[in-house]
Amino acid sequence: MRFSGKVVVITGASAGIGAAAARRFAAEGAKLVLAARGRERLEAFAVGLRAEGAEVLAVPTDVGADADCRALLDRAEEAFGGLDVLVNNAALHHRGPAETIAAEDLADMVHVNLRAPIYLTRLALLRMRVRGGGVVVQVASLAGCVPTPGSATYSATKFGLRAFSRALDDELRGSGIRVKVVSPGPVDTGFILDDLDNVTDLTLSQPMSTADEVAAAVVDAAADDRFERKLPGLSGALTTLAYVAPALGRALRPVLEARGRKQREKLRKGPT
Ligand SMILES: NC(=O)c1ccc[n+]([C@@H]2O[C@H](COP(=O)([O-])OP(=O)(O)OC[C@H]3O[C@@H](n4cnc5c(N)ncnc54)[C@H](OP(=O)(O)O)[C@@H]3O)[C@@H](O)[C@H]2O)c1
Repeated sequence: MRFSGKVVVITGASAGIGAAAARRFAAEGAKLVLAARGRERLEAFAVGLRAEGAEVLAVPTDVGADADCRALLDRAEEAFGGLDVLVNNAALHHRGPAETIAAEDLADMVHVNLRAPIYLTRLALLRMRVRGGGVVVQVASLAGCVPTPGSATYSATKFGLRAFSRALDDELRGSGIRVKVVSPGPVDTGFILDDLDNVTDLTLSQPMSTADEVAAAVVDAAADDRFERKLPGLSGALTTLAYVAPALGRALRPVLEARGRKQREKLRKGPT
C-alpha cells in the first residue's frame, strides 16, 4: 500500500497502460483521477474500479486542450484536496514516413505527445510546490531512446519528453518533487495492435511487454528514486547501443526486420 490516501492523476487512463496503471495504483490505496477523451469508456472503467472499492473520479479530458488540462487538475483538487502523482501517459502515433504524413497529423503528435505533458507537468508543479512534494511520471518510449525510422516525429516527441524530464528533474533537486520516465518497447495494446499494418518491422522485432508489466514500472517509478526505466531491459540496452553506434544499429537492422516480419505474421494469426 505505497500510495494509501495519495491522489494520482493519470491521462490516457481508459485503456492500455493507463488503465493497467490505474488498477495497480488502486490496489495500493491511491485515490484516482482518470482522464481520457471518450466519456463512455472512461466512465465504464471508473465504475468497475469503484465496484472494487477504489475512490475514482473520471474527468473527460483532451490533453491537447489547455482548458481541459487546467480543469482536470482543478477537479482533482476539488475532489481530493490536491495532487501527489501525475502520470502523463496519453499519446498518439501517426505512423509512416514523415514526408507523407499530413502536416496536421505531425502537429497533432507534437501537441499531444510533447506539449501537453510539458503543460500538464507545469500545472502540476504549482500544486505540488504547495504540498512540498510530488512525482510526475512520463510514459515515453524506446522510440525516444534511439531515432526510429518510420516513426521520425513520434520518436522526436518522445526524445523531447525524456530530455524535458531529465532537465526538469535536475532543476527540481531539493524541492521534494521528482520527474521520472518509463520507456517501453512495443506493448500489447490497441496503440500497436489496432494499427499492425503500419507498425515498422523494426518495432515488431522487439519482445512485446504487457500493459501490466509497463504499469508495474510506472507505479514503481512513482515510488522510488530511479530516474528512468526502459523495458524490456535487453531492448533498452540495444537502443542505447544503436544510439551511440548508429552504424552498428544499421548493420543489425536487416536481421531484426526479418524477425519483425515473422512476429507480424504471428500477431495477424492471433493466439493458436
Ligand atoms: N503500446 C505501445 O506499443 C507503446 C510503446 C511505447 C510507448 N507507448 C506509450 O504508452 C502510452 C500509452 O499507450 P497505450 O499503448 O496504453 O495506448 P492505448 O491503449 O491506445 O490507450 C491510449 C489511451 O490514451 C487516451 N488518449 C488518447 N489521446 C488522448 C488525448 N488527446 N487526451 C486524453 N486522452 C487521450 C485514450 O482514450 P481516448 O481515445 O478515449 O482519449 C486511451 O485511454 C503512450 O504514451 C504511448 O506513446 C506505447
